[in-house]
Amino acid sequence: METIKMNNKPLICALDIGSTKVSILVAEATSDGFKVIGTAKVLNQGLRQGSIVDIGKTTDAIRRAKREAELSSGRELSEAYVSFGGLYVRSFDSDGMVAVADKEVSQLDVDNVLKTAQAVVLPEDREIIHVLPKEFILDGQSQIDNPVGMQGVRLETNVHLITGVRTAFPNMMKCVESAGLKVKEFVLEQYASSICVLNQEEKELGVCLVDIGGGTSNWIIYLKNKVVATGAVPVGGINFTQDISIGLRTAPKDAERIKIEHGHCLPAAAELEEQIDVPDVGGRGLRTVQKRNLCEIVSPRAQETLKLILDDIENSGFKDQLGAGLVLTGGASQLTGLVDYATYNFETPIRMGAPHITTNINEAIDSAELSCGVGLLEHAYSKYTFKDVQRRVNKSSSSSSSVEDSFKNFGRHFKEFIGL
Ligand SMILES: Nc1ncnc2c1ncn2[C@@H]1O[C@H](COP(=O)(O)OP(=O)(O)OP(=O)(O)O)[C@@H](O)[C@H]1O
Ligand SMILES: [Mg+2]
Repeated sequence: METIKMNNKPLICALDIGSTKVSILVAEATSDGFKVIGTAKVLNQGLRQGSIVDIGKTTDAIRRAKREAELSSGRELSEAYVSFGGLYVRSFDSDGMVAVADKEVSQLDVDNVLKTAQAVVLPEDREIIHVLPKEFILDGQSQIDNPVGMQGVRLETNVHLITGVRTAFPNMMKCVESAGLKVKEFVLEQYASSICVLNQEEKELGVCLVDIGGGTSNWIIYLKNKVVATGAVPVGGINFTQDISIGLRTAPKDAERIKIEHGHCLPAAAELEEQIDVPDVGGRGLRTVQKRNLCEIVSPRAQETLKLILDDIENSGFKDQLGAGLVLTGGASQLTGLVDYATYNFETPIRMGAPHITTNINEAIDSAELSCGVGLLEHAYSKYTFKDVQRRVNKSSSSSSSVEDSFKNFGRHFKEFIGL
C-alpha cells in the first residue's frame, strides 16, 4: 500500500456529495492561487435528489473518495468544504438596520447590521446557511458594496438569505465525520458552481446558472452582480438513464453508458442508418437498435427537463431580467445537443459552462460535473488574504509542525460574509 507523504503546504479539500457520485478535489494554496494536486470520484447511491436516504452508503462513498484523494495527492486530509443542495433549500430577501457606533462605519457595525438582517422568523425546522449581502445603505445612500471606513450614522442592508432543513446538516455532518473528515463549511451547490463558471459581465447583466446533476437541477440567479434567487427541480441525468433503460429494455448501467456514448437530443442529427449495440437485460445477448430510436427517447426527456427548469425560474419572477440568459453546467448538461436543443426551443441565450483550471497532476479539470468542486475550492481560497497564505507557506517551511497543526488556524482571517 502507498504511504501518505508529509508536506506542510496549506491544503484545501473540496467534497462534493452528489446524487450519483462523491468527488473530492485537493488543492495546495499559495500566494499565486491554488493548484489541484489530487482528485477522487466514487459512485454514490446514498443520496436521492440531493438528500441523504442511506447514511451507510453515503459514509462509505465519502470514505473511499477520501482514501482515493489521499493516494492521488499524497497528502493526508482532515477537513473539507462540503456542498449541499437539493429540493429543501429555500432562499429569500431580508433587511436590517443599526446606528453606526462611532461616526465612521467599522467592520463591527457591518457584522451587526448583517446580524439584524438575520433576525427573521423561520420555521422551527430551518436554519440560515448563507447570508449574501446585496447592498448597504448609509444615511439613505444605496448600492454601497462595502461601507467600512465611510462616515455616517444609520447603516442599513439588503441581503439574500439561504436556508436549509435543520436536520439535513447533522446527517450530512455525521456521514462526513464518520468517513474521517471535519466539515469546514457547507456551501450551496449551485452557488459554488456559479463561482467558477459565471463571469462578471453575466452576473452584472442578469444570468441564471443551472447545475443539472444526476437527481436534481439546482439553479441560482444573479442580477447586478448579486444573488437574488435560488431553486431546485427534481430532475436530472438519472431520469434520462431510466427512460433509456425502459425504452430500450436494457440494464441501467448499460443505459447509462449508451446515453453518454450515443445520446443526442436532436433525432434529426442522428444518421438514419447508424446502429448501436444494446445488451439485453440479464446479459442474454446483444440487439442492434437505430441511433434515431435512442434519440427519440432522449429528446422528449430533454424537452420536459428544460421546461420544468424554465417554469421554476419563471416562478421566481426574474426570468425576463436575465440579459445574459442561462448557463448550463453539471454532469447531465453534457448530453450531446442539449444546448442547441435548448437554444432552439426556448427564447433565451444559453451557453455551456465548465471550469478550466490547471493541475499538478496528469489530468485536466474541465468537466462540467466538476463545476461544484472547483467552485468550492475558489470559495475556500477567496477566504484567505494574500498575506495569510504567504504567512502560512513561510511558517510551514520553517517549522516541523504536523499536517494537523498546519490546518489549525487556516482561514483565521477569512471574512465572514461573501463579498466583504
Ligand atoms: N457526457 C454525458 N452525457 C450525458 N449525461 C452525462 C454525461 N456525463 C455525465 N452525465 C450524467 O450526469 C449525471 C451526473 O451529474 P453530476 O455529477 O453533476 O451529478 P451529482 O452531483 O452526482 O448529482 P446531484 O447534483 O443531482 O446531487 C449522471 O446522470 C450522468 O449520467
Ligand atoms: Mg451535483
